[in-house]
Amino acid sequence: MRRAAITAVGAYLPPRRLTNADLEKLVDTSDEWILERTGIRERRILGRGKGSAYMAIKAAEEALQKRQIDPAEIDLVIVATVTPEHPFPATANIVANAIGAHRAWGFDVEAACSSFLYALSSAADSIVAGRVQKALVIGSDKMSAIIDYTDRATCVIFGDGAGAVLLEPTDEEVGIMDYHHQADGSGCAFLHMKAGGSVLPPSLRTVRNRLHYVYQEGRQVFKHAVVQMAAASEALMKKHGLTADDIAFFVPHQANRRIIEAAAQRLGLPMEKVMLNIDRYGNTTSATLPLCLYDYESQLKKGDNLILATFGGGFTWGALWLRWAY
Ligand code: UT7
Repeated sequence: MRRAAITAVGAYLPPRRLTNADLEKLVDTSDEWILERTGIRERRILGRGKGSAYMAIKAAEEALQKRQIDPAEIDLVIVATVTPEHPFPATANIVANAIGAHRAWGFDVEAACSSFLYALSSAADSIVAGRVQKALVIGSDKMSAIIDYTDRATCVIFGDGAGAVLLEPTDEEVGIMDYHHQADGSGCAFLHMKAGGSVLPPSLRTVRNRLHYVYQEGRQVFKHAVVQMAAASEALMKKHGLTADDIAFFVPHQANRRIIEAAAQRLGLPMEKVMLNIDRYGNTTSATLPLCLYDYESQLKKGDNLILATFGGGFTWGALWLRWAY
């Protein structure tokens, strides 16, 4: 059977660090609170004048360079992002042009923190269908562009970054094996951006009332995230007869260390089998999963079973079973 396998991973993290000590100077918070309640020590900030395409291009170029692939061989570019370079056109088109993927078509996927997993699933299906040979799936978010640095409940969590994977077809029993995704639009109330869309376009009033930032009711999101990330992963594992012993790594969306620990516990997975980098980058939304794969790449072996899981605004959530291909 033809499958889609990840054959290279690239990443980009802006050099500027925003530490908990820096945030103590901006809002009424403490290093102790942030570390204990979220597990985050620092996050990266891209700065003015550059957007999500800048980071996506760097991550994509690294993935291509690692596999020595000519960008003209790429058929499809999908950028997962909630902070596109512009409302339109798609950031994917800007990225494809900049990296020299002149034969490719592409588009953006926006499903809040689940964007990357949904984009990866869609690209894999196109490869399995035989319509695409080589695809780039990139998660890139400049969260600092939509975060209110006077709101202590959200500004301590998010950071900027990008990760990219190259997908190619394989006849071996590796690659994306299956996925289980779900969405529930009633969750919109708890995590969204109030203005800037078609229902409330930008105006002096929306800017004055700070409506162009992430609005989150953290406790509600937390509760659903633990339950649904674990449930989707469990459903997928059960369907394929996979036990905790069969899993080399659990790769969870990095939103809060306590969510990750609770989900892993529900799955019976020890923390040694859980990919974690939230302490260094915070929640980079669409970039968390490829950044985990990037950071743990040297520990992975061909045939390793990974369960990727996510939860985010929408609500959207899902899990994907991946057999590492190299
Ligand atoms: O990636 C997309 C999905 N997002 C998530 O999965 C995020 C899910 N939610 C969370 O990670 C957590 O809910 C937060 C980290 C956002 C908040 O942690 P919490 O333990 O749920 O805190 P809370 O909102 O229940 O607030 C507890 C207290 C409140 O004070 P009172 O009312 O008890 O006096 C907050 O005002 O902590 C206060 N608080 C803070 N204190 C110091 C909230 N933020 C801060 C802060 N520093 N930064």
